[in-house]
Amino acid sequence: MSEQHSLKAIRGNFLDIVKTVEQPEEIESHLRFIEDGLMLLRSGKVEWFGTWQEGKHLIPEGIRVRDYSGKMIVPGFVDTHIHYPQSEMVGAYGEQLLEWLNKHTFPAERRYNDIEYAREMSAFFIKQLLRNGTTTALVFGTVHPESVDALFEAAHNINMRMIAGKVMMDRNAPDYLLDTAETSYSQSKALIERWHHNGRLLYAITPRFAPTSTPEQLAMAQRLREEYPDTYLHTHLCENKDEIEWVKALYPERKGYLDVYHHYGLTGKNSVFAHCVHLEEPEWDCLRDTGSSIAFCPTSNLYLGSGLFNLKKAWHKQIKVGMGTDIGAGTTFNMLQTLNEAYKVMQLQGWRMSAYEAFYLATLGGAKALGLDDIIGNFNIGKEADFVVLEPTATPLQQLRYDNSVTLMDKLFVMMTLGDDRSIYRTYVDGQLVYERT
Ligand code: GUN
Ligand code: FE
Repeated sequence: MSEQHSLKAIRGNFLDIVKTVEQPEEIESHLRFIEDGLMLLRSGKVEWFGTWQEGKHLIPEGIRVRDYSGKMIVPGFVDTHIHYPQSEMVGAYGEQLLEWLNKHTFPAERRYNDIEYAREMSAFFIKQLLRNGTTTALVFGTVHPESVDALFEAAHNINMRMIAGKVMMDRNAPDYLLDTAETSYSQSKALIERWHHNGRLLYAITPRFAPTSTPEQLAMAQRLREEYPDTYLHTHLCENKDEIEWVKALYPERKGYLDVYHHYGLTGKNSVFAHCVHLEEPEWDCLRDTGSSIAFCPTSNLYLGSGLFNLKKAWHKQIKVGMGTDIGAGTTFNMLQTLNEAYKVMQLQGWRMSAYEAFYLATLGGAKALGLDDIIGNFNIGKEADFVVLEPTATPLQQLRYDNSVTLMDKLFVMMTLGDDRSIYRTYVDGQLVYERT
């Protein structure tokens, strides 16, 4: 195939945010809306981006233009916290975190020692991400290394940018899900060697949360981090009040929950802490001072009755935040629905989350939380070509609310309030069409 033939031309209305921000008020001035725009892609990267009028003469003879006029093309969504081996248990009834783990989650994760099953569920999982417009995710596997092999194989097949890791868990869970400090080290190390920077894949060292790791295991996580400084660290933090009390009882020598991770060198750039609903003041400061990131998981926090994440405070403290669906405590793979719930969580705390703020968190802000804002998250030249074609009038209610007199802010807000998987018309990963709504 000649160079020229690998070129793709995409036409439509484009919306992105050109640079990362420190405060939500700054987002609007970096918003880029190109009505009737053109994007040229080559080898999975953005080669040219601008208006159709300016760019149409750049399209070589014989190249078919994918025309999405009337649709809204946005960067692929970034999910900063999700468990792929919990897809089959969404909607488990009645419990808060600790009982939910014992009663529903651990039994579900047990099956992932079977590579065949893990492969089947990896295919299902990636399909769900794509049909919801999510093109990058930070993902928990199970304790079984096979679970991570299966997921990475599936992501690798479509050259999807994905960060994942094997759970490290050597206490306070059923025997069938436990590793040891030693095996968690050796298995994680082998997975890092196999997958980290293999194509677009990256590895996250993944201790489940402080209660399920011995101090010896956290020391092994630290050792891995020191040996592979550009891997990620992915865990849970301050999600539920009983959980926090438990951590304090298990680690009385530490100043608090986050100090357990901090003591073992697990905070820092590319450390992502899911939830952070009940942080104490020094913990906010520690996250900021270490450059750590937070995954805000509204559907999960509401579903498990965990509490309300204080996004306003995170902005104030200048801590990086991305959105997480947290399947299977979260109740949707869909980022629009996740933003819808985030808006309500903030309403309950007297903060009006704007549609621009929401859109930022789901795209470039999420990329920044994962340290990937130089390579994904908007349509700047050279960025990886992961994007979604949204249909703003996918549902009857949206059609009622949508006419040409509404502002861009309103259009976006209606989309995040009323939109769902029906809003996702096409998904592209690495410049390739990977999902078409039927
Ligand atoms: N804390 C420890 N493990 C989990 C999990 O699987 N889901 C959630 N939401 N919180 C956790
Ligand atoms: Fe989680």
